[in-house]
Amino acid sequence: MKNHDIVEKNLGLMIILTIVGISFGGLVEIVPLFFRADTSEPIAGLKPLGPVELEGRDIYIREGCHVCHTQMIRPLRAEVERYGHYSMSNEFVYEHPFLWGSKRTGPDLARVGGRYSDEWHRAHLYNPRNVVPESNMPAFPWLFDNTVTGRDTAKKMEALRTVGVPYTDEQIATAKDAFAGGKVKEIDALVAYLQQLGILVKQKR
Ligand code: HEC
Repeated sequence: MKNHDIVEKNLGLMIILTIVGISFGGLVEIVPLFFRADTSEPIAGLKPLGPVELEGRDIYIREGCHVCHTQMIRPLRAEVERYGHYSMSNEFVYEHPFLWGSKRTGPDLARVGGRYSDEWHRAHLYNPRNVVPESNMPAFPWLFDNTVTGRDTAKKMEALRTVGVPYTDEQIATAKDAFAGGKVKEIDALVAYLQQLGILVKQKR
């Protein structure tokens, strides 16, 4: 009881002990996850994004899609019923940077892959009101005009490889071919990226 009095009456000491307590609790929860295969090993079938999807992901970042959309389904019933299986860390092993997000103006997109047709996405991104009349999502019509050159794709892959994404030399050497002839528009790359989101986990929908 006496020791407790000392801590309660000494603000500095209380702050220090609180920090020690919280840090210890955090370590106990977090550190074991580094050593568990199901949290640190890639999920079966996980492959690094192909050149077109990779460019699509950068368009997603450039246009700020992640500011309105999360890619993180929490293990709560309401989330799982709406969006599908909750997100698991082994799905994100090759993600640099993560696009989990923290703000949902629109729905979560972690498992949007395969939910709609390519045509739906194109119509929606050209003008969301064409398919969802009450939508307040912005329109992105310029994606239909801009071409992806693929000029920097190989360099992006090399950079990702330095942080552990297993691109092969051949994949990097041939990355540019995917964009040959200027036939890939930004919309194609973005839709290709969206269509592979979260599809490795079987969904009950
Ligand atoms: C200002 C916020 C905002 C931004 C920025 C935004 N969205 Fe949305 N998005 C929404 C809202 C709100 C909805 C729900 C209405 C609708 O379907 O249009 C939505 C819906 C969607 C859906 C349908 C999801 C589903 O499960 O029905 C997709 C796919 C989508 N957005 C992709 C994108 C992409 C890709 C970008 C970036 C190019 C983007 N959004 C940018 C707000 C936003």
